[in-house]
Amino acid sequence: MITHKHDIIIVGAGIAGLAAAFEAAQAGHDVAVISKVFPTRSHSIAAQGGTAAALGNMEPDSWEWHFYDTVKGSDFLGDQDAQALFCQEAIDTAYFLEHIGVPFSRTEDGRILQRCFGGHYSKFGQGPPVRRACLAADRIGQVMLHTLFGQCLRYKVNFYNEFIVTHLLIHDEGCCGVMAWELVGGETHIFHARLTLLATGGYARLFKVSTNSAINTGDGMGMVLRAGLPLEDMEFVQFHPTGLYPWGFLISEGVRGEGGYLINADGERFMKRYAPAKMELAPRDVVCRAIQSEIKAGRGIEGKPCVHLDITHLSEKTIKERLPQIREMAIKFAGIDPKKRPIPVAPTAHYSMGGIPVNVDCEVLADGKKTVMPGLFAAGECACVSIHGANRLGTNSTMECAVFGRRAGKHMAKLAKRTSFLPLPERQIKAGCEEIKALLNHPARTSVAEIRESLQESMTRNCGILREKRQLEQQLDFLRTLKRAYQKIGLKGLPSSYNLALQEAIELKHMLNLGEAIVRGALARTESRGAHCRTDFPKRDDKNWLKHTLIFMKEREYRLDYKPVIITKFQPEERRF
Ligand code: FUM
Repeated sequence: MITHKHDIIIVGAGIAGLAAAFEAAQAGHDVAVISKVFPTRSHSIAAQGGTAAALGNMEPDSWEWHFYDTVKGSDFLGDQDAQALFCQEAIDTAYFLEHIGVPFSRTEDGRILQRCFGGHYSKFGQGPPVRRACLAADRIGQVMLHTLFGQCLRYKVNFYNEFIVTHLLIHDEGCCGVMAWELVGGETHIFHARLTLLATGGYARLFKVSTNSAINTGDGMGMVLRAGLPLEDMEFVQFHPTGLYPWGFLISEGVRGEGGYLINADGERFMKRYAPAKMELAPRDVVCRAIQSEIKAGRGIEGKPCVHLDITHLSEKTIKERLPQIREMAIKFAGIDPKKRPIPVAPTAHYSMGGIPVNVDCEVLADGKKTVMPGLFAAGECACVSIHGANRLGTNSTMECAVFGRRAGKHMAKLAKRTSFLPLPERQIKAGCEEIKALLNHPARTSVAEIRESLQESMTRNCGILREKRQLEQQLDFLRTLKRAYQKIGLKGLPSSYNLALQEAIELKHMLNLGEAIVRGALARTESRGAHCRTDFPKRDDKNWLKHTLIFMKEREYRLDYKPVIITKFQPEERRF
C-alpha cells in the first residue's frame, strides 16, 4: 500500500474538479487530482450546446431574468439564494473562461457568440427566447475541459490518472482523504489530505439509454451514502429530449436553439399542443413528456419510439459552422445528412439534479441541512447546492461546474492554511482493503455485467420519465434481488493490473445503492414536479411537497428526511410555456 500526502485532494477531473484545482493551485497549494480516466476523457467533454451567462451580447439580457428562468425551470424546488448567486457569478465566470483561453465562437465584432436554449427567455419569462448560451460551435465541454486542463498543468497540479477512488476516509473529526485502487499497478493507495473535494459527476449510467460516458456511475454520491452521509433530491433524474435514436447519444438542445423543429409521424410540429408559446424551446421536462406522449399515442416515426428533429430548413453554413459535431454524428452513426433528412431522436437519461448536499461554498452538509462535515467538499453534478431543483435548464450545468468548482477551490485554498492533517483511520483502511481483497478472491458465481444490465433495464422501465406506485414498488423488490445477486460476484483468477472487472464491481455497488435512493425518493414523493412525473399523482402539490428530500443509508437500511426550500424572491406559480 502506497501513501500520498497533499494539501488538497480533488476526486474527478471534469470541469468542476479542474476549475477547483486551478484556483487552489494558483493560490499556492499542493493540489492533487485523482481521476478514473485521463482528464481530457472526463464526461464534461460531452457537453455540446453552450454554457449559460446573461452577457447580453446578442440582445438585452439580465442576470435577474436568468434567475427567474432557473427558478421556474426548477419547478420552484431550487434554493433561490444559490440560484441568484449562480446567475450573477455566471457572468464573471464566462469572462474568466475567456481570459484563460477558452476559444468561444465569436460575433462579427469579436464578442462571445450566444445562442438560444430551452427555458431561457427575456423579461421574466414574458418575452421571447434570449440568446444566453455562450458557445464554441457544438463543443463547449471540450474547449472548457481542455483549457482548464492546460491551466492546471501550468500551475503544477499533480494528476493521478486511472485511479478509482473506493472509500472516503472519515472519522468523528472530519474527512482526511480517500482510498483508491490504481488500475495499472493493481494496488491500493491512500491519499492523505487536509481537504478533499468530490467532483465525480453524475450517475446516468444507471439507465439503459443514456447520453453519459461509461464512467458516470455515481461513485462520489455512492461513497457519501456508504459513509452514512445524506443525499438530496435523488428522485429528480433528467432525461434529455433528444438522444440520437436508438443509441441515446446527445443531440444538443443547441440544434433547437438554432431553429430545429420536432416533428411526429403525421409531420406535425407537435410542441404547439404542449407549449404553444415556447414550442421546441420549452424546458426539458416539458419537451421530454411531450415526446413520450406522442410516442405513446402511436405518433412515433414509422411506429418506432422516436420522433424527428428537423433542421433541413437551416442553411448548410449554419449546420457546418454551428453544429459540426451533430452533423458528423448523424452521418456516421445514423447515415443521415441532417441538411437532407431529419434526425431520429428520443429521450435519453442525461443528468442528476440531486446529489451530495452542500452550501454555496461547496462544504458537504453532514445532516443535509446546516452542519458542515469538516474537510469534505463537493461540486458539479455530484453535488446538490441546489440550483436545479426538480429540473435543470440546459447550459446551466457546465456553468454550475465552473462557478462552484472555482468557489470550492478558492474556499479550500483559504481553509487549507489553517487546517491540519487529521490522523488516518487505520481500522477503516483495513476494512476497505479487506473488501477489495474479498472481491478479488471470491470465485465468480454471478456476472457483474448481467446485474448491471438488469439494473439499467429495470430502472428505465420502472423509474424513468413516467412513474407510478406499483412499478416503483416492483423496482424496490427487484433491487433487493439484484443486491443479493451482487453478494455472489467474485473476480478470482483475474490479473491485478488493469482489472477493469474490479472497477466495474466497485461501480456496480454504488449504482445499486443509488438506484434504491432514487426509487425510495420517487415512491415517497406523491406529486409531479419537474422531471419527477407520477402518473398517479399528476399535479404539483406545494402544500405537502415544496421541500427537499434527504436520504440516508445505514447498514443497508434507508431513512428519508426533508428540509424546506429557500425562497427569497419568486413565489411558486403555475408553469405555463
Ligand atoms: O443539449 C445540450 O447541449 C446539453 C446541454 C446541457 O445539458 O446543459
